Amino acid sequence: MEPTNSYERLLKANKEWATEQLNKDPEFFSRLSHIQTPEFLWIGCSDSRVPADKITGTQPGEIFVHRNIANIVANTDVNIHSVLEYAVDFLKVKHIIVCGHYGCGGIRAAIEKNSLGIINNWLRGVKDLYQNHKEEIEKESSIEEKTNKLVELNVKEQVLNLAKTSVIQKAWKHDQRPHLHGWVYGLHNGIIKPVCEMEPGTKLDDIYEFNDL
Ligand code: CO
Repeated sequence: MEPTNSYERLLKANKEWATEQLNKDPEFFSRLSHIQTPEFLWIGCSDSRVPADKITGTQPGEIFVHRNIANIVANTDVNIHSVLEYAVDFLKVKHIIVCGHYGCGGIRAAIEKNSLGIINNWLRGVKDLYQNHKEEIEKESSIEEKTNKLVELNVKEQVLNLAKTSVIQKAWKHDQRPHLHGWVYGLHNGIIKPVCEMEPGTKLDDIYEFNDL
């Protein structure tokens, strides 16, 4: 019987997917149900058009994922810092990727002046970032170009925010990992552009370095 509700399509597709996986690899689920050893932590935007595994051709078990609006690493966000600590200290990921995307609605909302409710607070840091790079951003003429410039600046800033955490600095000091990467995905062409990278042990401005880790 054909599904009648939209969500039923998802459950039907899930059954087909599970069957297909088993046909390809009969041990697939029993292997994954015991252990996960992902090499990557992905911090991306919640946007439905940027699915971490699809655009990177990775399989279940390969990427540990955290997504929020505008891929922000906020100091006081217990959610992302729990994900980060678990990924670094227990899963021992080798790479952390902050992946923004051109045309990000969250970043654009931070530039525009419409009040959107609680999201105003979530995007406040992005407004601060705009303010700090005002000259560079305002060289761009259209709202689309301004947004894309701020998308890149935001990814770099969030990579820096990761490096400022004790979790990252401790792993850098004792385990020479993880590598931090800032990427931007193009909705228009499906291509990821790397925009920055930080190797383990990269020096930060002095005030951000903990000396007793
Ligand atoms: Co977005």
